Amino acid sequence: MIQGWTTCIFVWMHLFLFSAHAQDPHSYAKPWEARITHVHLDLTIDFDYKKLKGKVVLDFETSDHAEFLTLDTRNLIIQKVLDSKTNAALPFVLGTPDDILGQELKIRLKPKSRKVTIFYETSPESFALQWLSPQQTAGGKFPFVYTQSQAILCRSWIPIQDSPGIRFTYTAEVHTRPGLLALMSAENSREIQKDGHYKFLMKKPIPAYLMALASGRLAFAEISPSIGVYAEPEMLKQAVSDFSDIPKMLETAESLYGPYLWGRYDILLMPPSFPFGGMENPCLTFSTPTILTGDKSLTSLIAHELAHSWSGNLTTNATWNDFWLNEGFTVYLERRIMEKIYGTDYSDMLEVLGYQDLEGTIEELKKENRWEDTRLRLSLKGRDPDEAMNDIAYEKGFLLLRQIRNFVGSDKMDELLRAWFSRNAFKSVSTDDFIKYLNEELPNSVIHNLQLSEWIESPGLPRHTAPVSKLFSECRLAASSYLENHTIPKQQWMHWNSHQKQKFLRHLEETSISIFPKELSLLDQNLGLSENSNKEELFIWLLLAIKNGLMDVLPALDKFLTEVGRRKFVFPLFRALIESPNLRDWTLERYQAEWRQRYHFLTASSIEKLIGQ
Ligand code: BES
Ligand code: ZN
Repeated sequence: MIQGWTTCIFVWMHLFLFSAHAQDPHSYAKPWEARITHVHLDLTIDFDYKKLKGKVVLDFETSDHAEFLTLDTRNLIIQKVLDSKTNAALPFVLGTPDDILGQELKIRLKPKSRKVTIFYETSPESFALQWLSPQQTAGGKFPFVYTQSQAILCRSWIPIQDSPGIRFTYTAEVHTRPGLLALMSAENSREIQKDGHYKFLMKKPIPAYLMALASGRLAFAEISPSIGVYAEPEMLKQAVSDFSDIPKMLETAESLYGPYLWGRYDILLMPPSFPFGGMENPCLTFSTPTILTGDKSLTSLIAHELAHSWSGNLTTNATWNDFWLNEGFTVYLERRIMEKIYGTDYSDMLEVLGYQDLEGTIEELKKENRWEDTRLRLSLKGRDPDEAMNDIAYEKGFLLLRQIRNFVGSDKMDELLRAWFSRNAFKSVSTDDFIKYLNEELPNSVIHNLQLSEWIESPGLPRHTAPVSKLFSECRLAASSYLENHTIPKQQWMHWNSHQKQKFLRHLEETSISIFPKELSLLDQNLGLSENSNKEELFIWLLLAIKNGLMDVLPALDKFLTEVGRRKFVFPLFRALIESPNLRDWTLERYQAEWRQRYHFLTASSIEKLIGQ
């Protein structure tokens, strides 16, 4: 009898541990058979041959009869696999390479195996890695390397279970070129070690897409006792000054959504070729340098990455089909943090700009016959998750949360979110979990009015109130008066904040009225648009200029596309260029000759899809 009960409890525990995982369409892992719990890396960074080489030791839990440990890999060279305890060689097979998923690595286990050691190397096609020559850095003397693991690129630098539903702790030893610093998404050494050896520890369980490594000639500066920035020494001073409000952001986020559970919060200022604005690597956000402006006007991006410490890093989308649970929530938190610090007028501007992006994306997807991709819950089986990572998850997701807030009030909404994160700390969640949560927590009347299933399952936008911004009305008027009689708002421009400037330029960029190059050239001379050091404003200006055939901007544009690899900027500019009959050849030629080598795989592959290569 007792034995019966024990078996029963055992089976139940087992189901609990191993069945909570539905199959992730973007991973070969079979966590219900064997699931990684801890990763130890021992890697050498070889700048000469552009590869990482060494070993990974994986601890895993397994059901008694599991014969195999199944991992994800992509373009890795697997040398040998050992049972870590006995050092016995374990047989393994690499599956047929798949364009999207990479290759399955199936390791045959011994009956008692709980830990394996894999000796491996990355290859030049390890897409997560970008290797920069000294000329591509600010200092010009030392090379730089970094990884970008989200969404499914971790497998191209570590053989691992690369699914957001599988979490593990990690430790690492990294050996880099003496004189350089190595950093990871973990506790870091703040000083350069003469011998180039570094050790890392991440005590909290994280999913593979948050594994990150970077190495270069970097220096550290403190912003507060628990917050700091790493950057090339040339950039450090400006970073410290632009990032001086981050302690306030962290304090605000904690007051709204509960304690920050990751120890330190640091930022690594990346080289300008970084393909994203920011990446929320735990303890160490990677940030583009294109947000440095001297006036902190673009730092909501840091509020966004910081907010991922709750939405995403703590409570994680179970698969990439639920990506909106990471990004839509984070946009909501980001704007709430900005509202608390800079006021509602400020967050209203962010909301309106985001809403405008959303409208643009919906229109575009409709035109491209991708109407189904305007749903919040996606079904990405058989597709590259990267394809569906657009403003729908961010801005439609945000709009849904904003709609709930309209029903329950801001404070109640914060409370709901806070409880959601605390209940689901270090867990993965699905859209269904969120629906269930709302049904439990909200009164029936609210649930009824919300039309949740329409928001989540239907394409397009259900009934909602669109955001408005007081501060933008004069920008709209100024744009109309420019379009009607070419009045240049020189005085206003000098007093506008960056978002107002962006709004004015966006009005001109979006209008169907074409503007003569001669007129635009005058606008440029008066407002100094081509020399603008604010990259967000410069980007909209360059787009506007190309669309209206202003050739004078080509040198500024060439410089921008050579320096900056941020996909959000590069892709629309590139598309406008190749759609312009006079510029197509020039663009393709500059891309092959110069720009391509400077972009990360993710930016380059988006461009190559566009030009059909
Ligand atoms: N996690 C994302 C970046 C990402 C998304 C990388 C999908 C790979 C796949 C990050 O938090 C993000 O959203 N970055 C934005 C900035 C933000 C302010 C909207 C970006 O990079 O533009
Ligand atoms: Zn994000």
